[in-house]
Amino acid sequence: MAALQFNLQTTDTLSKARAGVITTDHGTIETPIFMPVGTVGTVKAVTQQQLKQEVNAQIILGNTYHLYLRPGLKILEAAGGLHQFNGWDRPILTDSGGYQVFSLANNRKIKEEGVVFQSHIDGSKHLFTPENVMDTQRIIGGDIIMAFDECPPYPSDFKYAKNSMELTHRWLDRCINHFNNTTDKYGYTQNLFPIVQGSTYKDLRTESAYYIASKNATGNAIGGLSVGEPTEVMYEYTALCCDILPEQKPRYLMGVGTPWNILENIALGVDMFDCVMPTRNGRNAMLFTSKGIINIDNKKWENDFSVIDDGIDCPMSNYYSKSYLRHLMKAKEYLGLTIASVHNLAFYLWLVKQARAQILAGTFTSWKNEMVVRLQTKL
Ligand code: GUN
Repeated sequence: MAALQFNLQTTDTLSKARAGVITTDHGTIETPIFMPVGTVGTVKAVTQQQLKQEVNAQIILGNTYHLYLRPGLKILEAAGGLHQFNGWDRPILTDSGGYQVFSLANNRKIKEEGVVFQSHIDGSKHLFTPENVMDTQRIIGGDIIMAFDECPPYPSDFKYAKNSMELTHRWLDRCINHFNNTTDKYGYTQNLFPIVQGSTYKDLRTESAYYIASKNATGNAIGGLSVGEPTEVMYEYTALCCDILPEQKPRYLMGVGTPWNILENIALGVDMFDCVMPTRNGRNAMLFTSKGIINIDNKKWENDFSVIDDGIDCPMSNYYSKSYLRHLMKAKEYLGLTIASVHNLAFYLWLVKQARAQILAGTFTSWKNEMVVRLQTKL
């Protein structure tokens, strides 16, 4: 089987937006793309069939931290990897735990060797190192696996950010070494993406982006953004990283974001995105639609029998009414969580598909400027 390939089709003339195709052993991904987050091997409240038929998801995420703790590696290995376990036969990307360990675990201690932490589930003690995180991701079996990094909090002082970035770079070298000394477990090729860090310091980000670019990986990620910094700062650092990372490799901006954040970052040259926002906000009654934002809890939707969103190509969004979904959410019915999650994800996938079509047609920038305003409108 073959390593990940990226075929860059078009770059926009008025922005740095790109359209391309990623090829993996589990199929192709048209970029720019949004990747639904399936933390514990499930995109919350959404079935794999719905991800294909309603959402049009081309690739989903899993999290090393969660899957390692539960169900654990024995079960995942016995199943033949996550694809076999959860029945998702398209590409999977796993995050390394280098973010979750800092945001979720208790009593974590960072050392040169790795991170010691206590499980948020049962308090048990564990050690993640660059080497064992590569082994764990080999067993989970993602098509794309992420380097073990430290994502420093915002704001971080310069000294902390510099030490953290240097540690991430040393960890990256250990990840690459160990990755190269181990083999694919399940017959298809796994690909390791390194992650740019450096907080919100131009010289650190620049150094990190050059360091990551020098590793000649099949794709590269930008981490440590969308962690509380102002939006304009995020755009500034995305732009800085994109201008240094190789043009012929996909660029993945981790953990971003709102629909308008995604459009602005596409314009800066990002190809891949993931975020819990469509599912998490959906479960909390916030809907993103092609006309703007809906708080479905609001009384104004009580007698609105129009469909959730007739502007996108999702059967579920074109079928159920706003009034019915509001009722389900108010009654705390499980179906409400499913409809809201499917709709929001389908909207995100629709949005990146439109962005791709506009890039290919040469009309991206004017479309994007109009959409950024429209999508933020409160309905
Ligand atoms: N998810 C969102 N941001 C990050 C990051 O900086 N590192 C990792 N590993 N995952 C992320």
